[in-house]
Amino acid sequence: MTKIVMVTAYDYPSAKIVDEAGIDIILVGDSVANVVHGMKSTREIGMNEMLVHVKAVARAEPKAMIIADMPYRSYSTPKTALANAKKFLKAGANAVKIEGQKQKIAKALSKNKIRVMGHIGYLPQSDAKPIVKKDAEKLIDSAIALEKAGCSWIVLELVPEKISRLISDTLTIPTIGIGAGKYCAGQVLVFHDLVGLNADDSFNPRFLKKYANLKKDAVAAVKKYAKDIQEGKFPAKKNSY
Ligand code: KIV
Repeated sequence: MTKIVMVTAYDYPSAKIVDEAGIDIILVGDSVANVVHGMKSTREIGMNEMLVHVKAVARAEPKAMIIADMPYRSYSTPKTALANAKKFLKAGANAVKIEGQKQKIAKALSKNKIRVMGHIGYLPQSDAKPIVKKDAEKLIDSAIALEKAGCSWIVLELVPEKISRLISDTLTIPTIGIGAGKYCAGQVLVFHDLVGLNADDSFNPRFLKKYANLKKDAVAAVKKYAKDIQEGKFPAKKNSY
């Protein structure tokens, strides 16, 4: 069966790149807090910043579906969740993602015809540091409850392969894994991680496969530019008017 491919994008050029690559879903993840804003936690980003990122991605007019990650405290009650999800849809998103066992929220959104992606396992908005979640019963119960509440997909983050396989086989909606093994219906990675553009060189978790090293290429390019200026090679005649 064809797998669902999801990648994050937070801005216009990365949305163009991942869409040209033919991926299925663009996640405007709150990981933008760490990856782009250099914040310590995803808790530090709010609705206003996330809306700017969703709008930038939407301007790329991707064929891929755009899912907006609801930031910390933007879905504390069904009422706030609904109001904020509507802002994301207006900004160009097709669906929203929420973290944790938030059945009431998922129900409120799906009842109002807003497609929702759930997210269980490691939860960056509430867990102090990344840990693999191993409580099979709790994870399966949460997944089933979120499906019943109306979620259209569920992200499984840092979940042992055996458990994620069981969840994927049990649910009728697709599971999207990150650090959850190969049996999920789809996979997600952060764009900057997979293309090697993450500012933090030490970020090398086991679940990550780097398909390029763009940061290294970018440093080399900027160094060459600086050297060319010092050596009088840039700007050349063809770069001048
Ligand atoms: O914010 C994000 O990028 C995410 C994915 C890692 C699932 O939540």
